[in-house]
Amino acid sequence: MTSRSSVPSKDRYPGALGSDTIDVFPSAIRGFLKEHRPSRMPFFRRLAKLPFSVASDPTLLGQIHLIYQSAMHATRAAVYYLPHLDSPALRKRKLRILIDDDGLPEGDTHHYQLTRAFLNIGAKSILADEEFGDPEELCGHLDAETLRFVRLTRELYGRSLGPWCAIEVLSVDWMRALAEAISVHFPEFTNEPYFRECFSQRVEERHADESLAVTQIVLKGRPDLLSETLRDARMMVEALDGVWAHLDRIVRNACRRARNNGALRYPEKSPPINR
Ligand SMILES: [Fe+2]
Repeated sequence: MTSRSSVPSKDRYPGALGSDTIDVFPSAIRGFLKEHRPSRMPFFRRLAKLPFSVASDPTLLGQIHLIYQSAMHATRAAVYYLPHLDSPALRKRKLRILIDDDGLPEGDTHHYQLTRAFLNIGAKSILADEEFGDPEELCGHLDAETLRFVRLTRELYGRSLGPWCAIEVLSVDWMRALAEAISVHFPEFTNEPYFRECFSQRVEERHADESLAVTQIVLKGRPDLLSETLRDARMMVEALDGVWAHLDRIVRNACRRARNNGALRYPEKSPPINR
């Protein structure tokens, strides 16, 4: 059997590596939305369909916060290590994105906003904000799939720009999916600044456009980087699927606990999912 990584890039991205290769780089990355669109994963639908008594469990909400925040933390921290963006003009554009995450008014950050959003719906926090530091320090708190994503993010973001582009392209989809799923139970959740400001200012759409644009600039000067850039992007989105898979496991386990405690009387194993 042939592994993806052994398949030449020109075969995995048909039409992407001709003479106009760099021009079609954005569509190659946006193509991940077909195969790896986060909202297609069962986690979001299963979470939305939970009975309120399960969905509002502070322990479940704390677990979801820990996994999601860890994955987001990994990407926010790794952006500081992006390569090839060293000219003054590119540093300025990178800085704008860093400010969107870590330079909000009055010392706020997306990290703090996200934690407040979960605390406001009753999540029992497992890790304090400042305990999200070096990825290796999160080891003892994470499952294998999330840990793989966290470790890969640090490694791949520091090596090429593809993983960053891919994550920025996918991010608005998973943010909407998460906001909608939790808002079924807590309608105000989608109005939390973490979501409201991102959606109203189209922050993630801008990040997607910017990451693709600056990466194209880099690739035009260094076309030899293209293959590695696309390969790393694919590794990143495949690892991201593992995060949603683990979150779905957390939701299914919460259902099982509730059923065993007699708090849930479903005839099926967990709430049905319409695919
Ligand atoms: Fe972003």
